[in-house]
Amino acid sequence: MGPPQTVIVHPTAHVEGEVRPPGDKSISHRYAMFAAFADGTSTLEGYSTGADCASTLNCLRALGVVVQVTGRDAAGLSLRITGRGPHGFLTPADVLDAGNSGSTMRMLAGILSAQPFVSRISGDESLSRRPMRRIIVPLERMGARIGSNDGRPPLVIQGSARLQPIDFHTEVPSAQVKSAILLAGLHADGETRVTEAAQTRDHTERGLKAFGVDVQREGLTVSIKGGQRASAASLRVPGDISSAAFWMVAAAALPNSRVVVKDVGLNPTRTAIIDVLRRMGAQVDVDDGPAAHAEPIGQIVVRHGQSKSVVITPEEVPGLIDELPVLAALATHGGDLKVSGAKELRVKESDRIADLAKGLRAMGAAIDEFEDGFHVHGGSRLRGGDVDARNDHRLAMAFAIAALGATGPTTIHDAGAAAVSYPEFFSVLESLRA
Ligand code: S3P
Repeated sequence: MGPPQTVIVHPTAHVEGEVRPPGDKSISHRYAMFAAFADGTSTLEGYSTGADCASTLNCLRALGVVVQVTGRDAAGLSLRITGRGPHGFLTPADVLDAGNSGSTMRMLAGILSAQPFVSRISGDESLSRRPMRRIIVPLERMGARIGSNDGRPPLVIQGSARLQPIDFHTEVPSAQVKSAILLAGLHADGETRVTEAAQTRDHTERGLKAFGVDVQREGLTVSIKGGQRASAASLRVPGDISSAAFWMVAAAALPNSRVVVKDVGLNPTRTAIIDVLRRMGAQVDVDDGPAAHAEPIGQIVVRHGQSKSVVITPEEVPGLIDELPVLAALATHGGDLKVSGAKELRVKESDRIADLAKGLRAMGAAIDEFEDGFHVHGGSRLRGGDVDARNDHRLAMAFAIAALGATGPTTIHDAGAAAVSYPEFFSVLESLRA
């Protein structure tokens, strides 16, 4: 069961303990989708228990894929997924529901573009506001026809079994866009190339290789040859460093704190948070463990130490995009944080510049808002207050971490949104209070 809609978070002196974060959300979506078009039956362990990854499984089931949940442990769900091969999906009887999940909609659109039927995919109120032209343009250039609500969901996708390969340069650095194009490219007639504006997370490239598909990278260009068949794989999903980031920040922020994060993904396209915590003054120790098949994995220990001023440059933003709300929360505990080049935050599950600033201000923070970023002036202790997470999981959790250092309690409305990526978040928080 996920958290209640409204949660009151009380301050705490410090946090202490060991955490196994939930299965990585980005990797879970991908492994499930790849297993769905592979030949044979794949087994996945540690699949995310979050609502977003459940949306992916529901969409795959609606396309005729057999997904069985065979177990559940601290790491997440164990799944058996029987693939339907590259062109074996069934025409869905109903509209596919991506819920709150941009990853589900954008990456699945790449796969559906290569299916010779019409499919419809919609989402909740938040997803219905998010920009889709970034995938519509390249996928239409490959030969799909995609209707939308002026560039926003719902999407109506008329796929084609004979897509053309493209050589595409992305304007916005986005792993979802890159992945949608590569997944369509897997079914195109020739080699598809995507050149990114900046390197983004590479879970699609690594994951496809684990399913036996050859993907090449040269600098910022990734290429894939169409017509390759994926074969079933047995994979373990590492813990999600973007979920672990909340505890890493709490330990950095609160004096005498120490948190050990076990079994966490250490993919270099996701670990920029470690560098920023060190720059802010925290002590962070990383131990590499054995690779979890396709992804590096290990342990992170964070000890308190935080008061420095840090500037995040535009070049750093793609590697930190999901961690920026919790880093803003860190700066409210002291120190100072300036972020620019992060306009993308405005088109996430909420407007993560305006809604973040509004919430932190309501708790007593001094924060300036820019079109492409924000500046949190640390130094004055928060008093706590009444905040609205705007149905955004990362805002709900970031406000909770800010609230730990306040002088009074904080009421978080829409806190239940945490279940999108981390249903156990508020109970883990209680277990870490020393
Ligand atoms: C994701 C990529 C990022 C990230 C999102 C997950 C992914 O989005 O913010 O939470 O799994 O590929 P963009 O591709 O829009 O940058």
